[in-house]
Amino acid sequence: MFVHDENSKKKRLSHIAFIMDGNGRWAKKRGLPREAGHTEGAKTFMRVAEYCFAGGIDTVTIYAFSTENWKRPPHEVKAIMTLFASYLKRGIKEMTERNMHVTFLGDKAPFDPDTRELMERIERESAKNRYKLNIAVNYGGRAEIVNAVNRLASKGITEFSEELIESELYTAGQRDPDLIVRSAGELRLSNFLTWQSVYSEFHFTDTLWPDFGESDVDAAVDAYYSRTRRFGGVV
Ligand code: IPE
Ligand code: IPE
Ligand code: MG
Repeated sequence: MFVHDENSKKKRLSHIAFIMDGNGRWAKKRGLPREAGHTEGAKTFMRVAEYCFAGGIDTVTIYAFSTENWKRPPHEVKAIMTLFASYLKRGIKEMTERNMHVTFLGDKAPFDPDTRELMERIERESAKNRYKLNIAVNYGGRAEIVNAVNRLASKGITEFSEELIESELYTAGQRDPDLIVRSAGELRLSNFLTWQSVYSEFHFTDTLWPDFGESDVDAAVDAYYSRTRRFGGVV
């Protein structure tokens, strides 16, 4: 288990965000359909979140499906959505048992009404739980900012500020991610947390998401505590 560097000069790692990537490549390597990678990746996601919370991290965010992922072949999108729906059905019980407070980041509009209702119910019923788990589905960082501005405009606001925009983001009221981790070797954000990531630290690993384990989290946390965060100032 990783340990936090309690050295007062280091900012405590409170919020860690994961771009789970490489499910498809993991399956391909085994001669399996891409969908099998998503099934395995979903299990990894729960394990990783639990491990982070056990280690004293307050908030875990996971990028599960982007606004661009609808471009994938229909059978893959369908398989991901079916997997998502089955997780939601088990979700309320599992989240409660694990003391997780779930928020879905993203536009819920394209989901069918039953799925939407379930997402909202999980958010409501887990609201008093201790550990903050954000699941980004149908999430796009640019879309999130546009949505925030439109919401403000619909209230008649014409003069914007960072605080006002932040108050309408899907992550309103939450701390920005201290650390963003991406698996599977790609060195990009792919439209993840565009607004919130301006001063995040980054950690990239070649490990494919379904293989991502405790030692990968440990390595990411170690990397985080080796950094000096200046936020534009002088340390
Ligand atoms: C991440 O794995 C899951 C989603 C983006 C839904 P990928 O499906 O992107 O896996 P690769 O990148 O093709 O290996
Ligand atoms: C990013 O992964 C989106 C998620 C992890 C949900 P992608 O596999 O979609 O990203 P690109 O296409 O390689 O940039
Ligand atoms: Mg990918």
